[in-house]
Amino acid sequence: MDLNDQLATALEEARARTTAIIAPYDDVVLRRQHDPLMSPLVWDFAHVANYEDLWLVRALGHDAVRADLDDLYDAFQQPRNVRETLPLLSPTEARSYARRVRERALELLAEADLTPDAADALLRHGFVHYLVVQHEHQHDETMLAALQLLPIADSRRIDAPPPPSGQALEADEVLVPAGSFSMGSDHAWGYDNERPQHEVDLCDYWIDTAPVTNAKYQEFVSEGGYDDARWWTADGWAWRQEAGAIAPQFWRRDGQSWLRVRFGTIERVPADEPVQHVCWHEADAYARWAGKRLPTEAEWERAAAGAVPDSARANLGQEHLGPAPVGAYPSGRSDVGCHQMLGDVWEWTATDFGPHPGFVAFPYDEYSAVFHGDRYKVLRGGSWATHPSACRTTFRNWDLPIRRQIFAGFRCARDVH
Ligand code: AVJ
Ligand code: FE
Repeated sequence: MDLNDQLATALEEARARTTAIIAPYDDVVLRRQHDPLMSPLVWDFAHVANYEDLWLVRALGHDAVRADLDDLYDAFQQPRNVRETLPLLSPTEARSYARRVRERALELLAEADLTPDAADALLRHGFVHYLVVQHEHQHDETMLAALQLLPIADSRRIDAPPPPSGQALEADEVLVPAGSFSMGSDHAWGYDNERPQHEVDLCDYWIDTAPVTNAKYQEFVSEGGYDDARWWTADGWAWRQEAGAIAPQFWRRDGQSWLRVRFGTIERVPADEPVQHVCWHEADAYARWAGKRLPTEAEWERAAAGAVPDSARANLGQEHLGPAPVGAYPSGRSDVGCHQMLGDVWEWTATDFGPHPGFVAFPYDEYSAVFHGDRYKVLRGGSWATHPSACRTTFRNWDLPIRRQIFAGFRCARDVH
């Protein structure tokens, strides 16, 4: 298959996923804002189509399918908490808009010059098409986070095959020797924020071979971790007080143990799965309680080297609709021996989201440059909801340190000296 066909197939696969996610819900549920943090599902859907209209039609020099929708579906002009109040396309209108844009985009893709020396930098190696594929998959993950917030009455049962079973690991931590490594990627399909690849020197450090499990996290909870300011930063403690948090989001106490709500189902919290739905402050407090710390972003990437985003070796792509137990993917170990670096849960790192040295925004500032600074923390590795095309050891995600509706957990590290 040539690159043009390969990208057309990737676009169609992403659309099949998006369509399947919204299919079980009626227009009222799709139109409603279920949580101030998340958009109405139909906003995400039409936004994905509008992004494609912008990047695969207009940016390539053709007339937009509908330029009049740009303001409505611009994430910067419309903060999430007002999206329900906008004159949005109905689900039927959104479906037909998405179909029209897709037809046009595929028509143009079929005759596009995607060679490395194409005149338009957006087209070289199919960069902009891959950008749009990744964008749709990222919104599919966001839509699942919105579905996880639906009231139980509106939820639909989601059936998925269970992930492989867990296995005991050979060790809890590995020692990563001091040295330099190449951080980031110059791959043609990577995001601007992964570029340029550059050498980073690290001291030796220990890092956990697996993400922190629910069982471990529950020890922190039952030993009073949420009531002891010693474990929290000042901001973290302020968040904990204001949010009244006593456990991860979606956990409910049941006597001495815990239940969780997951896509409308109430179930026992499984001991050996990575904890998810914790914010950066909770991850950071746990690490301090455990006598450890969160890994820096560079330490995380160094420890992940060698892990590949392939469904046989990582829990990715919404196949199992939840994290897999620790040890479920022994063949997905990284070169230093860390398990489940890719897939399962996004992992919070200690690092603020900043540019790699020599960063140049491409193709637009609003993908990542405008988020640089000390407000956002970097997350790495992708979750069970992340598609393999938007997952790699160099892929950088970021969010506010108070956010926990995303599918995020963490692993710990510690200094040697
Ligand atoms: C990289 C996940 C932080 O969802 O805000 C979607 C991805 N950018 N549309 C986000 C994104 C534009 C972004 N994250
Ligand atoms: Fe977007």
